[in-house]
Amino acid sequence: PNRDRVREQSLTELMAQAARFYKEQLKRSPVAIDYLKGRGLTGEIAARYGLGYAPEGWQALQAAFPDYSAASLLECGLVLENEQGRRYDRFRDRIMFPIQDQRGNVIGFGGRVLGKGEPKYLNSPETPIFEKGRELYGLVQARQAIRDHECVLVVEGYMDVVGLAQFGVGNAVATLGTAATPHHIQKLLRLTDRVVFCFDGDAAGRRAAGRALEVSLEHLADNKTLTFLFLPEEHDPDSFVRAEGPDAFRAAMNRAQPLAEFLLAELKKDVDLATAEGCARLVHEAKPLVTRIGAPLLRLQVIKMLAETAGFTQAEIEQSFGLKNASAM
Ligand code: CTP
Ligand code: MN
Ligand code: MN
Ligand code: MN
Ligand code: MN
Repeated sequence: PNRDRVREQSLTELMAQAARFYKEQLKRSPVAIDYLKGRGLTGEIAARYGLGYAPEGWQALQAAFPDYSAASLLECGLVLENEQGRRYDRFRDRIMFPIQDQRGNVIGFGGRVLGKGEPKYLNSPETPIFEKGRELYGLVQARQAIRDHECVLVVEGYMDVVGLAQFGVGNAVATLGTAATPHHIQKLLRLTDRVVFCFDGDAAGRRAAGRALEVSLEHLADNKTLTFLFLPEEHDPDSFVRAEGPDAFRAAMNRAQPLAEFLLAELKKDVDLATAEGCARLVHEAKPLVTRIGAPLLRLQVIKMLAETAGFTQAEIEQSFGLKNASAM
């Protein structure tokens, strides 16, 4: 365990140095600076998020880190090895987004191509210090704004966080291209009582919202409010705030759909409530989700909404869910 600590410390140190290296390289790359400017970012915001640039070439990072062993460079995921045993930099000619843990240590990177190209983003692999399902991009920078607004905004992408911050919406964090996990939800709910999910307006964004809903259910509490903001199809938070401005974005945030409403809308999507079968099916499909709601009062409200929607009494729903009928006591 002691050796693990030492190893983690040296990995953290290496990641910090890499972030400094990429930042330094950004200053020397007019093309990369132009790309960021073209996306509407000022130097101030780029500095706030520690943005950098990984230069072209296969060995730029390795050449800048002669004092580190190949093993360390491989372990932190910044260097890869091909079948011939030749080592090369993972990130080349990309805009670099350092991912920090909540203490501010750099634990990974996301790298974006300048312009078109595949893959659009490359990310650090999981390492002893980087577990994707636990981290939220931008949390260190957002913490104060989350306190001030008593609300955290959850988005999909690096550019969403940075683009929103550029327009003064500083309380956004991103899941790292993965679906929201129970760890994410618990972390978010420890931060504040209000969580607004705002995923992209495309099909993938809607699926991400559905998954966030599902993993949230059991972690809900009656003093927490989770809402879902659905943007117009062609937009993500970054493009929306850029096109419509921060006031329009905040207004949309305040109109976001409450979790219970979203849940019911999702359930109603594939049933025909004009038929007895459809009503029965709605309640049947709702059972595993509604019984998982960890907030007793909210669960009661959802049951009432369900009863009304499907033409049952609250007691009938509770009975069919195998719940104690509180109102009969
Ligand atoms: N992502 C990824 N790998 C990809 C594509 C996406 O890891 N090949 C992750 C990134 O974290 C990205 C997020 O998923 O930020 C959302 O993807 P997308 O909406 O496609 O990108 P944007 O964040 O909108 O990036 P940009 O505006 O730069 O196109
Ligand atoms: Mn509270
Ligand atoms: Mn998308
Ligand atoms: Mn985008
Ligand atoms: Mn996007």
